[in-house]
Amino acid sequence: MAEARADRPPVLELKNVSKSFTTADGRTFQAVKDVDLVIPDVPDAGEFRVFLGPSGCGKSTILNIVAGLYRQTTGEALLRGKPINGPGPDRGMVFQSYSSYPWLTVLENVAFGLKLRGVGREEREGQARTWIKKVGLEGSERKYPKQLSGGMRQRVAIARTLAVKPQIILMDEPFGALDVQTRLGMQSLINELWEEIQGTILFVTHDVAEAVFLADTIHILSAAPGHFVQEIEIDLPVHRTEDIKNTSRFRELETLVLDHIRSAARGGNVRLTT
Ligand SMILES: Nc1ncnc2c1ncn2[C@@H]1O[C@H](COP(=O)(O)OP(=O)(O)OP(=O)(O)O)[C@@H](O)[C@H]1O
Ligand SMILES: [Mg+2]
Repeated sequence: MAEARADRPPVLELKNVSKSFTTADGRTFQAVKDVDLVIPDVPDAGEFRVFLGPSGCGKSTILNIVAGLYRQTTGEALLRGKPINGPGPDRGMVFQSYSSYPWLTVLENVAFGLKLRGVGREEREGQARTWIKKVGLEGSERKYPKQLSGGMRQRVAIARTLAVKPQIILMDEPFGALDVQTRLGMQSLINELWEEIQGTILFVTHDVAEAVFLADTIHILSAAPGHFVQEIEIDLPVHRTEDIKNTSRFRELETLVLDHIRSAARGGNVRLTT
């Protein structure tokens, strides 16, 4: 793996981040506690970080803090050394539920972020068409989200997020509701697009095989209040195709990740060898 440059601050740094919510009956609920994460700035390379953890442990909360949609209760959240003070064009989020704009066509949805950035109509529609093609939705440009299947809608959301080329892409279980076939296709697509974008991706999933297939590093979270308990480097080649899932190394890594998940569930943090 390439080295981070010492003179460049990390792309993202979470230091002792905790987040509490006030519940309807006025009590304080701690969603995440003492979250520490450093993603170094490696020139000409992206980082693909996958978060795995039990439901309710705070994965979406952490992504929302990085997106600037939630503010942490305590601790520091820094982007390239500067505090996160709200959403910005440097970050794009694909939400857990489908998030395309129902009143815009597929083409308008995908071109939306470019329009906000002042890109002229011809240019933005050209770029949007390129992304629509990449996610396999050619021919659906003039349709509205309600005319699409769930999987197609999620592809619109992905194309819309990637079209503006954010440096940090936050993906919250983006394939959770897709059928197996579409899901496998989307995993390969994201692997390809990641190389093209060279950005940092933070990706949440509950699917261990998906995590191993996509990640360069997997972060395991504890149960609520969540924090990172383990980092596992995935030493597979950067270019990955479906057949890598049949290799013995892939299966070893899957087993290792599962062991870490079980260990985290028991509250342990034992070192297991790769
Ligand atoms: N806006 C909010 N107001 C109050 N509580 C919240 C809010 N957002 C999240 N929580 C609570 O914080 C905890 C963590 O939620 P979060 O959505 O981050 O979990 P998660 O790890 O993404 O779970 P899942 O895997 O089910 O998506 C949950 O108990 C949730 O109810
Ligand atoms: Mg979630």
